[in-house]
Amino acid sequence: MAWFNSLARSGAVALALASYCRAVPLVSEPETTVTSDAAATACEVPVTDVTSHGSYTGPPPTTTGALSTDVLSPTIPSLPPEQHKLEYPADGRLHAPEPAPYTPAGGLGTNGTEPVYRVQSGFDYESIALALYQEWIELDLFHYGLATYPVEEFEKLGLTAEDRYLLQFMAEQEVGHATLLSNMLGPQAPVQCTYNYPSMNLQEYIDFSQKLTRWGESGVYGFLNHLDSRESAQLLLQSISTEARQQLIFRQFEGLFPMPVWFETGVPQSWAWTLLAPYISSCPANQTRLIWQNFPALYVLNQPNPARINGADVWNETLGDYANTLSTADLTDSDACLNSTVVGENCRAAISRNRTIPLSYPGRQVFLEWDAPGQAVGPNNSYVTSTSAGPPQFAAWVSQLNVTYSPLQNISGNTAYTIQPNTSTYEGDPAINGTMFLVLTDRELPVTPFNLTMLNPFVNAVTIYQAG
Ligand SMILES: *[C@@H]1O[C@H](CO)[C@@H](O)[C@H](O)[C@H]1NC(C)=O
Ligand SMILES: *[C@@H]1O[C@H](CO)[C@@H](O)[C@H](O)[C@H]1NC(C)=O
Ligand SMILES: *[C@@H]1O[C@H](CO)[C@@H](O)[C@H](O)[C@H]1NC(C)=O
Ligand SMILES: *[C@@H]1O[C@H](CO)[C@@H](O)[C@H](O)[C@H]1NC(C)=O
Ligand SMILES: *[C@@H]1O[C@H](CO)[C@@H](O)[C@H](O)[C@H]1NC(C)=O
Ligand SMILES: *[C@@H]1O[C@H](CO)[C@@H](O)[C@H](O)[C@H]1NC(C)=O
Ligand SMILES: *[C@@H]1O[C@H](CO)[C@@H](O)[C@H](O)[C@H]1NC(C)=O
Ligand SMILES: *[C@@H]1O[C@H](CO)[C@@H](O)[C@H](O)[C@H]1NC(C)=O
Ligand SMILES: *[C@@H]1O[C@H](CO)[C@@H](O)[C@H](O)[C@H]1NC(C)=O
Ligand SMILES: *[C@@H]1O[C@H](CO)[C@@H](O)[C@H](O)[C@H]1NC(C)=O
Ligand SMILES: *[C@@H]1O[C@H](CO)[C@@H](O)[C@H](O)[C@H]1NC(C)=O
Repeated sequence: MAWFNSLARSGAVALALASYCRAVPLVSEPETTVTSDAAATACEVPVTDVTSHGSYTGPPPTTTGALSTDVLSPTIPSLPPEQHKLEYPADGRLHAPEPAPYTPAGGLGTNGTEPVYRVQSGFDYESIALALYQEWIELDLFHYGLATYPVEEFEKLGLTAEDRYLLQFMAEQEVGHATLLSNMLGPQAPVQCTYNYPSMNLQEYIDFSQKLTRWGESGVYGFLNHLDSRESAQLLLQSISTEARQQLIFRQFEGLFPMPVWFETGVPQSWAWTLLAPYISSCPANQTRLIWQNFPALYVLNQPNPARINGADVWNETLGDYANTLSTADLTDSDACLNSTVVGENCRAAISRNRTIPLSYPGRQVFLEWDAPGQAVGPNNSYVTSTSAGPPQFAAWVSQLNVTYSPLQNISGNTAYTIQPNTSTYEGDPAINGTMFLVLTDRELPVTPFNLTMLNPFVNAVTIYQAG
């Protein structure tokens, strides 16, 4: 138990000093006369610099499929709301005595019991283990980018030495995140694996990283408020907030508008695992396995391509991977936004870019193709894609606070098209924008951010759609 006790003890308390400014003498250049050794620092989890990448070539796995135990029911039934949640009079007045001055009644974990930064259920363990798999791939991916692409390539995109240092710093943040999550899980925490990325040039790599950090961030938002351990949720929130900045920074590196939405979406764990697992090539022999489902891949045949001036005018310009990462293979110099100097077209790295021609828009016909279930994916090809849904009938656009369905049209075998819906989260905020999620379903199940996971039994395939 030492791993969590030490974590609990390490919580440093910052004391805010009351400031009385009037009597303070002006010191423009303070002279440092006091030196002190740093307080003991917490150890990091062991990290090896993985240098080999590529698809899995070893023997067939001895264990296959998601971790499982007795399954009690094929789905969770929907129930009405709990009555007591409809009762608190939200009128701005106090309705109970205060436990202490300036302290309103209520809240969870507010009664003085010592926090325990430790998972409390299978739900907690599996969710945080998934987040840890994600932190490990990011650590590798960011190092891989720095090691793989020459300086001149970065400079062509408008990325300087200072920007490369930012990428390096992001990798270092991942060591901290992996350490934190490993400590919360204990000795069987999943360790670093080896990874299998598509063959990418730097522009494609940045697009891939921008998409990967999107499902990393959204995958955690999907379960954070369902965790039994609110203490673990607190720490995870503080690491995922950093991850959210990484996603935004990769969008800036790509010359996209940094945050075209008002709300960041959360998605179920199985969607994040579906998108992550195919990029893991192998894990060590006694690696802890996960319970989550791997859905079949969904391919967006006209996935918007942010490397184009007219990114919506595309056909088959992805790397063919699960995330539908952009491909620059068919790009001519006059189509490429990178070399344009026109405002509204230029997509060199920047704090913000305004695209005159949007990547996607309501009314756009989106052509889709999906895989059949039963394919081996993930570490050592030891997980198997599956779906319990009937034949796909709808595309569900999962973005911001909303899930919007559009019917699949001209379904032929495993292809169809659908029309991007015209929908807003709030007036003035078109719901479908940014890097978002597109899944196929067999029905229009009403779901909202806190019960989105109820959709899983009816999902056929999952991907990322580049809406803006
Ligand atoms: C403190 O709150 C927790 C729930 O958050 C409850 O289980 C526990 O009994 C409470 N302890 C005391 C001393 O009130
Ligand atoms: C996995 O195996 C290695 C080598 O045998 C061992 O060092 C490590 O402690 C094991 N890890 C777990 C989680 O059992
Ligand atoms: C996965 O493959 C790696 C590399 O071939 C091997 O070392 C490892 O034991 C395998 N893991 C499992 C769980 O079979
Ligand atoms: C997309 O391109 C790839 C390789 O260039 C090709 O194998 C595939 O058939 C194309 N798919 C479609 C739907 O055009
Ligand atoms: C941009 O211009 C440079 C030369 O200035 C050229 O090498 C490069 O291929 C061009 N890139 C694109 C995507 O057009
Ligand atoms: C940026 O785009 C918005 C909306 O498309 C537009 O209103 C605005 O004028 C553009 N600004 C610039 C500087 O291009
Ligand atoms: C997405 O957001 C960008 C930036 O605000 C905007 O220019 C674009 O028009 C939006 N796309 C849609 C479909 O609303
Ligand atoms: C979307 O809805 C708005 C508001 O109803 C409307 O003004 C706009 O024309 C619609 N766009 C499309 C493409 O249907
Ligand atoms: C859909 O099917 C109809 C009827 O077969 C056909 O006329 C139409 O061209 C098809 N649309 C697309 C986009 O393939
Ligand atoms: C999107 O979600 C918000 C927040 O739940 C809701 O108020 C709004 O009605 C939803 N929009 C649509 C088009 O369903
Ligand atoms: C999810 O919650 C919404 C209310 O926010 C409710 O209308 C809907 O029926 C729920 N979905 C399921 C599948 O329980």
